[in-house]
Amino acid sequence: MERKTEAGQSREGLLRSYNQGQSIPLRRSLEDAYRADSESDIDVTEFLDRDPLNETSQVPVAAYETTTKLRNIRTLFTRRSKCVLIVLAVLAVFWSLLAGGGFALYKKKPEDGKSPPWYPSPAGGTVKQWSESYSKAAGLVKKMTLPEKVNITTGTGWQMGLAVGNTGPANNVGFPGLALQDGPLGLRFADNATAFPAGITVGATWNKELMYLRGKAHGQEARLKGVNVLLGPCVGPIGRMPAGGRNWEGFGSDPVLQGIAAAQTIKGIQEENVIATIKHFVGNEQEHFRQSWEWVLPNAMSSNIDDRTLHEVYGWPFQDSVKAGVASVMCSYQMTNNSYTCGNSKLLNGYLKDELGFQGFVQSDWLAQRSGVGSALAGLDMTMPGDGLRWANGDSLWGPELTKAVLNGSVPVSRLNDAVTRIVASWYQLGQDDKSKFDNEGPNFSSWTNDQMGFVNAGSPDDKDSKVVNQFINVQGEDENAHSIIARRVATEGTVLVKNEGSILPLSKDGFPAGEGDVIKMRIGIFGEDAGEGKGRNFCLDRGCNQGTLGSGWGSGAVEFPYLITPTAAIKEAFSKDRVYVTDFPTNKPTLSKNPEILDDQDVCIVFVNSDGGEGYISSDGIRGDRNDLGLQKGGDQLVKDISVGCGRGKGSTVVVVHSIGPVVVESWVNLPGVKAVIMANLPGQESGNAIADVLVGNVNPSGKLPYTIGKSLEDYGPGGKVMYYPNGAVPQQTFSEGLYIDYRWFDKHANAPRYEFGFGLSYTTFDYSNLVIKKFLEKTPLPAPRPSVLPPPKLDDAIPDPSEALFPAGFRKLSKFIYPYLDKIPDMKKNKYPYPEGYDIIQPPSQAGGDEGGNPDLWNVYATASVDIKNTGSREGQEVVQLYLSYVDVAGEATKVDFPVRVLRAFEKISLAKDEMKTVTFNLTRRDLSYWDVLRQNWVMPHEGKITIRVGASSRDLRLMDWY
Ligand code: BGC
Repeated sequence: MERKTEAGQSREGLLRSYNQGQSIPLRRSLEDAYRADSESDIDVTEFLDRDPLNETSQVPVAAYETTTKLRNIRTLFTRRSKCVLIVLAVLAVFWSLLAGGGFALYKKKPEDGKSPPWYPSPAGGTVKQWSESYSKAAGLVKKMTLPEKVNITTGTGWQMGLAVGNTGPANNVGFPGLALQDGPLGLRFADNATAFPAGITVGATWNKELMYLRGKAHGQEARLKGVNVLLGPCVGPIGRMPAGGRNWEGFGSDPVLQGIAAAQTIKGIQEENVIATIKHFVGNEQEHFRQSWEWVLPNAMSSNIDDRTLHEVYGWPFQDSVKAGVASVMCSYQMTNNSYTCGNSKLLNGYLKDELGFQGFVQSDWLAQRSGVGSALAGLDMTMPGDGLRWANGDSLWGPELTKAVLNGSVPVSRLNDAVTRIVASWYQLGQDDKSKFDNEGPNFSSWTNDQMGFVNAGSPDDKDSKVVNQFINVQGEDENAHSIIARRVATEGTVLVKNEGSILPLSKDGFPAGEGDVIKMRIGIFGEDAGEGKGRNFCLDRGCNQGTLGSGWGSGAVEFPYLITPTAAIKEAFSKDRVYVTDFPTNKPTLSKNPEILDDQDVCIVFVNSDGGEGYISSDGIRGDRNDLGLQKGGDQLVKDISVGCGRGKGSTVVVVHSIGPVVVESWVNLPGVKAVIMANLPGQESGNAIADVLVGNVNPSGKLPYTIGKSLEDYGPGGKVMYYPNGAVPQQTFSEGLYIDYRWFDKHANAPRYEFGFGLSYTTFDYSNLVIKKFLEKTPLPAPRPSVLPPPKLDDAIPDPSEALFPAGFRKLSKFIYPYLDKIPDMKKNKYPYPEGYDIIQPPSQAGGDEGGNPDLWNVYATASVDIKNTGSREGQEVVQLYLSYVDVAGEATKVDFPVRVLRAFEKISLAKDEMKTVTFNLTRRDLSYWDVLRQNWVMPHEGKITIRVGASSRDLRLMDWY
């Protein structure tokens, strides 16, 4: 049996071992590799440790690579020239300055205090839907000792436990340790589990039922694998920057699409008794500089978001998630308005817990917590994975430190009680206390080894107790309940047909029409590395490289594929072998000049191309998380050009299939005469081939719509659409000055013609829209009803306990690096005033926009409905996504005061229609849908003078009907 981490291995070594069947968590391995380096004669740590902030949180890939590079340079130097020493010294000084915030010497100082204070942290247990869970939780928490309480709030440390995040139990009262596992599209590091299509593909289905079903299947797999808390869905990033590395984990570049998809997913997951986590709250729009040290700088960047934009764009899907009852929120790595998000009291206490009425618990992203007492006061409830400023060293900002902070009075007992009660109440709320629903035995798989036997606490060298850690339980469902059925439906419906000249698609399975087909077989050539399996379906750790067909982006949001249906395999199966001759060339460099017949003979050429990226701790092919541009990768653009020009000596038809983590610019080839059809297949997961084959041959009529805009250039998305690749200060400042105008809203405002607009997608049939009817249900009034009074939170004993309670029990066997809540000795308690944050003593008034889970209940009342008749006027059955957009341009009186996008999506429905069938679709419009966030009144305001324009259509630019409310 082998541990998955091996100190000192090179990146290539790690990949090699992985390919030989071991699975090695990359980040930890790099940490080990880095440590091994730091123990050698080269010492990058020296100057990292000398940094005044001493916040080395995670060993970044860059640091590791630089370490290796430095070692080589140094060998050279000791043997040869003193000049190199001087150069090195200068470089070292420069880097020290940079790392120590030296940038500030010649760049503008970081802005401070842009996020107002909001204290004290609102206690949970204030709404009816949670009251039973809170009263049970309070009953349990009352009986807990201080260390038991702390145990529940603090992860046990990286690789201490079988999941990626593990908390300690409160054994005396029977509360278990919780297992937290990624991620949004399946179970990371798990065997025998489904690799569902990614969030972006789910968004592209615009199918609420599928969103829910995928969530439910995912939740069921988590439950059967013993996972208490699933680290998904993801709605942040929302997609401000089309090249953003993690946009694919979420559902598309619009708050309403994200919000609805998240709510449906949460409903599905939580119906399976698993706690869903909505992440990353909030503003984590790019990977570059997202966290301290990962990008060399000691501090993460700041996303600067104004109040209205927070409410109407970035916060909107979180509000939907809270309304849907989500039990956990993960705060993001970077700062928001120059305060680390996991310690940002305005966001956690003010917005999330007071205004949105969030009743569950806030957990930090992995090492996103940057302060101990500060983050507790600001509303953080659980720190993950437990380690504090650095990976895997066992030094927590909480754990024993929180115990001390409570004993010396700097963190009020009431705050700790609230954090613990929130976690325990979430466990009750999801029915995890019920043995018939949830076994609480812990995970039956290990994130750290693929072997059956392994160490539960693989991160501690002291764990010598080998146990069965992988039970290889198959959770993929069977027969008609097989989750592959849902995965395939999502992949198929998330495939978007954007060009179909001359109705070249669908291709007939029987090739040429009967008669001709008796003598001539149709010839189809499949081109591109993206059509095949490449070097293996799980070739790279966390899918951190682009090879073979692209089914998912990379990072913690990726999973091992249990199997992969490649496009080539499925397409070959889809056609009649007697009448169609399919050959494949799974390379991006076919030898066209040497073998012109490869192309000359084809009637149809299907080219597969892609564009990959992912989370910022992995870099591959020069891409570090965020993509460098919106082009196709690995020579894809050239491949499409070559194939389309040569296919059938210029007479063949080329179909282009793009797998991508987000929009790609297609201008260099989309209008070439040979390019007859273009399909944006997004990230389809394990059922990739079946999905594309179904669409190509018309087994399924395509019904996906773009969840983002495909612009003609990156510039067309506006300045806000650009990833910041180089820091503009010690704390890089990303100011979201475009406000509400992301994606199609920017294109509309600036009259930029996109290549394919948000919400666009073709079908093999046609639909007619008629008879838009708006019905008024409630009278317009500017402000929602006053905030209703809430239930009192449970009362617990807030007295500081006896410190002896916190000592390690006698004879306790400690594992090194494991994070315990106990203390070795009673701490020295100095009497002094704790330097509480500015504004800590000012009690904030509750928000009028709050009052229930999801905000003021009046925001969710239906004020109007819009109904529309849709008829299938084409020749075959199909599904249509009917979209409703709203604008304020005709609002008298308000229009001059309120800037508002040309149109914003507010509702959608997907319907299925047989040939000639007609259905009426009805949309509910809530007060929030009809309102904007007024920063002065600090409330949602519905313009009540004049009319709100409502348009309904088939995309954001194909709006067929209009009426007013
Ligand atoms: C990611 C989170 C993930 C966590 C645990 C972090 O790097 O940002 O999305 O849930 O790791 O793997």
